[in-house]
Amino acid sequence: MGGEIHPSVAKALGLLGLGRTRVVPLPVDAQGRMLAEKIPPISGPTIVCVQAGNVNTGAIDPIAEICRLAHAAGAWVHVDGAFGLWAAAAPSRAHLVAGLADADSWATDAHKWLNVPYDSGLAFVRDPHALQAAMAITAEYLPTQSEFRNPSDFTPELSRRARGVDVWAALHSLGRSGIAQLIEANCAQARRFAEKLAAAGCTILNDVVLNQVLVSFGDAARTTRVIAAIQTDGTCWAGVTVWQGRTALRLSVSSWRTTEADVDLSVAAIIRAAQSVA
Ligand SMILES: Cc1ncc(COP(=O)(O)O)c(C=O)c1O
Repeated sequence: MGGEIHPSVAKALGLLGLGRTRVVPLPVDAQGRMLAEKIPPISGPTIVCVQAGNVNTGAIDPIAEICRLAHAAGAWVHVDGAFGLWAAAAPSRAHLVAGLADADSWATDAHKWLNVPYDSGLAFVRDPHALQAAMAITAEYLPTQSEFRNPSDFTPELSRRARGVDVWAALHSLGRSGIAQLIEANCAQARRFAEKLAAAGCTILNDVVLNQVLVSFGDAARTTRVIAAIQTDGTCWAGVTVWQGRTALRLSVSSWRTTEADVDLSVAAIIRAAQSVA
């Protein structure tokens, strides 16, 4: 996996019994994208964990190239697309996830860009038999044969609430065009943030390709003070992060209710906060 993968992937590997440290972290570029050419020779059972949507920069690994290299060596390619998978739904962003269909499994979160309640994680596995072999259990008291798909054959839990209802309702009400519009709008709003803040003299640390914007207000101490002032002001909320050694404001635009006017009000609040801090 790339050196900038989300730490929850290591936790997932631990929960699977593979161990949190049984990974080969690969070098990444300035946006946090795995360098496909640095994938070492693969031998034996291997999972290559790809990231679509870095939590800081929004960057997406070169999925097509990684799938080509990994599949040539018989490896499984998993895509953590908690945010980035949704780029596939937006015509102007879909090129970022080219090759996605070649992967063996995807994970994404409906509680992120689809705006449904926590905890609506989704897993997609190309080979349903592999998933069923890993997840299905039997017991004398449980029905075994059914003409219907047995949901618990495909999930870690045997019993769970019907999270799928909220997801279905959101997908159904938005439709393809509604989802495309949601993703397009948030990405355009992120670019609007970046352009206006850059014009006001703030430093944007990332290429704004998705919905993430990293903003520096100088050194770590000053940036931290500006972020505290933004949070106290309360017009918008964004937190602090450290990106490749630089402390930054992490703007993440992901609500269906956010408008351009909200962005402009937020930009004005951020500039006010920056001006109020020495
Ligand atoms: C790329 C990525 N993977 C995984 C996660 C973890 O998702 P969750 O909080 O739903 O477990 C996040 C959360 O921000 C993420 O951005």
